[in-house]
Amino acid sequence: MASTISEMKVVPTGGPVGAEIQGVDLREDPPGEVVFAILQAFTEHLVVFFRDQELSQDRLLDIAQWFGPFNVPPKDLPVLGDENQPPVVPVSNYVEGGMLGNRELEAHSDMSYLPVPLLGAMMYAVELPPVGGDTSFSNLYQAYGELDEETRALVAGLKVWSYNPYTPRFADRGAELGGATQKFAEEDPPVFPHPIVRTHPVSGRKSLYVGGLLCEEIVGLDDKEQAATLLERLKAHVDQEHLYYTHQWRTGDLLIWDNRCTNHKRTAFDNSLRRLMYRVQIAGTRPF
Ligand code: OGA
Ligand code: MN
Repeated sequence: MASTISEMKVVPTGGPVGAEIQGVDLREDPPGEVVFAILQAFTEHLVVFFRDQELSQDRLLDIAQWFGPFNVPPKDLPVLGDENQPPVVPVSNYVEGGMLGNRELEAHSDMSYLPVPLLGAMMYAVELPPVGGDTSFSNLYQAYGELDEETRALVAGLKVWSYNPYTPRFADRGAELGGATQKFAEEDPPVFPHPIVRTHPVSGRKSLYVGGLLCEEIVGLDDKEQAATLLERLKAHVDQEHLYYTHQWRTGDLLIWDNRCTNHKRTAFDNSLRRLMYRVQIAGTRPF
């Protein structure tokens, strides 16, 4: 039986992002008003999740496409995985073709090194270590809102570029992320700076589009030392504890994050333990 709108409940985490959506069984398409309410909750809470779902890979793709089409990696630019990656990719430290290993991942917004990064991504928890591998999501609207007036004026109009870890120049950083089958480009592509103050295409709200893992250099300031100091300060600003919600994964969780106004980071876990998440990447639009 398809879930109905009267059974559906949106329960905020109480943190700066996130809401659990209860009363929806995603094995079957719910009626349109339920899907619309899920999309509204996503806009409002930036991260939404469902517990205890039993979903095939095909079903994950059906659900992801309520939010947008899949991301197709550009032919001429390397990404996590490779250009032939299937739309459902394993994020795992042990399966064949698994990506992102077992180490800590610092705060980032996925694929900010591309001209058109992701809208968001969906992760489905299949196998989890008993400890470690927690994922935390931060509210970058709030990070922008909490900047002092002077810094806000300084960053308006500036851009920042993120390094691509799968290119010769940054290959030492990419080696740990991609897993055994990661492909690397033979030549360094150009960099693609994006506005530091990003306007969300649906909500119209401004966020601070900076993360500790990937952002490399601010563009638009003559003083290079000032640019470097500012970037370090912004990275620390977006990484403050109070901006995060930490998700305690359970198998059967399906979680979707808005990659346009949140960062995420992950704690390490012991590599003798097994972790497997299925991830679907949703195509975005060019940041402005
Ligand atoms: C990702 C990612 C975090 C995790 O898939 O983009 O950063 O918890 N994953 O594995
Ligand atoms: Mn990520």
